[in-house]
Amino acid sequence: MSKEKSSTLQLLTPLKMGDLVLSNRLVLAPLTRNRAGEGNVPTDLNMLYYVQRASAGLLITEGSQISLQALGYPATPGIYSQKQIKGWKKITEAVHEKGGLIFIQLWHTGRISHSSLLPDNALPVAPSSIRPRGEAVTYTGTQPFETPRALEIDEISGVINDYTQAAKNAKIAGFDGVEIHAANGYLLDQFLRDGTNQRKDIYGGSVENRMRLLDEVVTALKDVWPAHCIGVRLSPENQFNDIHDSQPQATFSAVLKMLNKHALAYVHILEGDMLNDEKNVDYIALRKLFSGLYMANNGYTRARAEQAVLDGHADMVAFGRAFIANPDLPERFAQNACLNEADPATFYGGGMQGYTDYPVLQAAK
Ligand code: PHB
Repeated sequence: MSKEKSSTLQLLTPLKMGDLVLSNRLVLAPLTRNRAGEGNVPTDLNMLYYVQRASAGLLITEGSQISLQALGYPATPGIYSQKQIKGWKKITEAVHEKGGLIFIQLWHTGRISHSSLLPDNALPVAPSSIRPRGEAVTYTGTQPFETPRALEIDEISGVINDYTQAAKNAKIAGFDGVEIHAANGYLLDQFLRDGTNQRKDIYGGSVENRMRLLDEVVTALKDVWPAHCIGVRLSPENQFNDIHDSQPQATFSAVLKMLNKHALAYVHILEGDMLNDEKNVDYIALRKLFSGLYMANNGYTRARAEQAVLDGHADMVAFGRAFIANPDLPERFAQNACLNEADPATFYGGGMQGYTDYPVLQAAK
């Protein structure tokens, strides 16, 4: 283990984000862990997981459903019921007690759901009735995705209201802000990309139309939260959940320009693809279109993250696997210490094993 002073790492310097000051630029990425309790209510075990990671400059929760219709997987938490608000409140209070900051990720999975997960066994909804290739995760194991029902134009205000209500609930639950999940093939991303959005109305066709729903959600949330407490997550070329766009550079250039007008806390960009190392989008060019804070994500190492911050490409870097396995990641980076390896077998579902039992560094003797 080489000793290097933490003060030499730009990654570990504070960052001002609106009225908030992040103690460092390491972010706990939003990570689906499928360990919510009955009623998709956050539990004390979930609290321990977040508290253990409270030394991150910012924690972003796992995707949390804005409504019953938004659910896409078993045992993922929501932020639409009173019990869920209460469960999250315990978590935000415990994180704040440790000096941490925590945003909740607002999630609607759209067509990546399954009728067996939804009220009245309704079909999942989407911009267009295009079935994803692959399989949904249900209570009884995986099942082939279904052809979703295209949202009627007069249903869209209801979806926006669900985001607004969830954002209000997040405030009651004591969060420091919200992240709108518009990435990874879920509902808002399904609207953004032309492979999944073939609508003929004002929510489909041109980029302006495809990004209208995201624009309207951001606008609605700005009536609930100050803009500098709202982040947006995008994944311009991630193919996860069978999604694609014919012109990702052009589409996401337009999206970043639109978001830039909203003076948000940050954009959070999953660069490249979750499942391979290919990168075809110019992220440096995208970054230049957004004058606020830029959070980079996807396979960054300590060295690459530091370089990205030094180069001015990123203001913050979100870590997933590394934070799963190393609750004290900032301290490990400070000491340039070895990292624990994450065990993929315990990523989704289960109890404390692989969730809250990763060891921290031994205290110096
Ligand atoms: C997942 O369950 O693997 C998952 C969930 C949400 C994401 C990405 C991946 O945004």
